[in-house]
Parts: sequence; C-alpha cells; structure tokens
Amino acid sequence: MIKVLVTGSAGFIGSHLCETLLEHGYSVIGIDNFDTFYKKEYKLHNLKVNQGHENFTFYEADLKRKKMIEPAFEGVGVVIHLAGKTGVRPSIENPQSYIENNISVTENVLSVMQEKSISKLLFASSSSVYGNNPNTPWNETLDVNNPISPYAFTKKACELLNHSFHHLYNIDILNLRFFTVFGPRQRPDLAIHKFIKIMFNEESIPMFGDGSTSRDYTYVKDTVAGIIGAMDYILANDNVFDIVNLGHNHPVKLIDLINAIGKATGKDPQIEQKPMQPGDVNITYANIEKAQRMFGYDPKTPLKEGLNNFVEWFIQYPEMLEL
Ligand SMILES: NC(=O)c1ccc[n+]([C@@H]2O[C@H](COP(=O)([O-])OP(=O)(O)OC[C@H]3O[C@@H](n4cnc5c(N)ncnc54)[C@H](O)[C@@H]3O)[C@@H](O)[C@H]2O)c1
Repeated sequence: MIKVLVTGSAGFIGSHLCETLLEHGYSVIGIDNFDTFYKKEYKLHNLKVNQGHENFTFYEADLKRKKMIEPAFEGVGVVIHLAGKTGVRPSIENPQSYIENNISVTENVLSVMQEKSISKLLFASSSSVYGNNPNTPWNETLDVNNPISPYAFTKKACELLNHSFHHLYNIDILNLRFFTVFGPRQRPDLAIHKFIKIMFNEESIPMFGDGSTSRDYTYVKDTVAGIIGAMDYILANDNVFDIVNLGHNHPVKLIDLINAIGKATGKDPQIEQKPMQPGDVNITYANIEKAQRMFGYDPKTPLKEGLNNFVEWFIQYPEMLEL
C-alpha cells in the first residue's frame, strides 16, 4: 500500500484525514510543529486519535526547516500538504508569518518532493481566494486576482508556485479549495466552535454584521472524502494540474447558523451584534460540479447532523470546554 505524507497532521482537518487514511489501510506519515496559532492541548488531543496506530508515524518538525523534514519524505508516494497558518483576521495583524508558514513552507515541500522524485501533491487551498466575487456559486474558472486578506493572497500565491513546479518538474498537483470546514475537533478560532462553547457557558454570541452573511459550511468527513477522492484521481492520472472546489453548495446565513447551534445545544442564543470585521467576505458558495465530475465528490452531511456530532464531541470531552 502506498505511503501517504500528511503535513499539518495534528490540526483539525489533518487529524481527520489521517484517521480515515489509516482506516482505509494506508501507511501514513504525519508532520506537525504544533504551531502556536491555537493551544497545543487541542493538537495533542487530535494527535492522540492516530498515535499508537501501527501504520502511523509522526514527526514533530517545522516545515520551515528543510533539512529537518527531509527524512519524513523517504519512500512517500503522495503528499497531502495541509500545514499552514490559518485564519483571515490574524493574517491582517501579521502577514509576514503567513508568507513564511504558507508560501516558504510550500516551496520547501515542493523542493523536497523534487529532490526525492515524489510526483503527486494535493494542496489545501481556500475559498478565501475568491474574495468578494459576486458571481456565486463560485466556479474554479473565476478570476481570483483580488484577494482581500494576506491569508487569501498566500493561498493564491501557493497555487501559482505549485504550477511552476508542475511545469518544471512534472509534479502532478491538485489545489483543493476548502470551504469553512466544521465538525468535531474544529479549530477553536472558528465561529461554530466558539459559538457552541459560548452557548454551553451561557454567554452571549458576538454576531459580526446583521446576520445576513453566509458560509458554505462543509462537514469535515465530507471534506476528507473529497481529499481521498482527489488522491485516488491524482494517483490514477498523469500530467495533472488543476484547481477544485470542495464545498457543500448550501450556504447558510449566520443568523440561521446561530439558531441551529441553539437547537443542537438545547439553549436559547443571546446575540450581541457587532460591526463586520475587515477581511471578512459576505458569502462563500461553491460550485462543486468539477469535483463531482472528476472524482465523484458528494458532500451529504446536513448542517444539523454535523452540528449534533460536534456537540456530542464536546459532551464526550468536557475538558475541551475549559481550554
Ligand atoms: N478549516 C477550514 O475551514 C479551512 C478552509 C479553507 C482552507 N483551509 C486550509 O486547510 C488546512 C488545514 O486547516 P485546519 O483548519 O485543519 O487548520 P489547523 O490549524 O487545525 O491545522 C494546520 C496544522 O498545520 C500545522 N503547521 C502550521 N505551520 C507549520 C509548520 N511551519 N510546520 C509544521 N506544521 C505546521 C499547525 O500546527 C496545525 O496543526 C490549512 O492549510 C488551511 O489554510 C482550512
């Protein structure tokens, strides 16, 4: 069975991806440096899900240090590069750190792949590259030359960097644009995680804007199924470079999300309205026909079911409410 290297394996999506790959019988190498963007305790909890599995090897390493990561790439057949600095708002405070952890790190990953003749890469791009493009649902042919945050800029820059390595060194690459992924173990900086916690603590929810902004929330198991579909596709095909949306195609208004979280937690949401934040977009909305066509992507999980699973996780791990 092929060896799969997952960067960012102690992160939210990475830990779910490793879990599913291991269930499918793959040999998985994980790399993560426990970046301080959010508390290490969450990442150690994520890591525990896979640590100890006989087919899982974990390297605590910083991808900025090329020499340090080279051994992990030995014998690898496909790289799934999820590691990176996430979050739109903090990227406005510290763009340099996003350039280092996203663009420079991706260049390191590509260079090591080239040196070790590894020719298959999936890259975690983002819906944020679409900025405030009004032509929803967004398809992959839209112009994405108008990023509205440094984070979005770095994701677009990585897609371009990936193209140059594909052209020069025949590395097959799929850039997967994720759309607000949620579910158990979701990053604590994201709205759904924050809101569930606030609801359990009986506090009021800060709602940025009038509640009409919407997001194409995608359940993490659907995103992971999409990543694995993309992996199968790239392993079965040569001379591939493409960009594919992995969204849900069902945008949900912020106010409806808050009410749905109220139902899932069995609490009455108390809302405190605040001004919109700089860098935030009004809507994210994926056209997912390309992924459906290419590898049968079929995100099925309704918001309600995903929220219930996430609330269950908090009930199972109450210590996560204390962090
Ligand atoms: N979660 C979403 O809704 C979403 C949406 C669009 C795109 N993405 C992208 O998907 C990827 C995974 O997102 P996530 O939500 O799981 O984030 P996450 O922060 O939970 O996971 C990213 C992991 O990368 C690690 N990392 C960061 N810099 C590193 C470095 N220099 N060396 C080694 N490891 C490093 C972090 O420690 C973290 O564990 C990210 O690239 C993100 O930009 C996520």
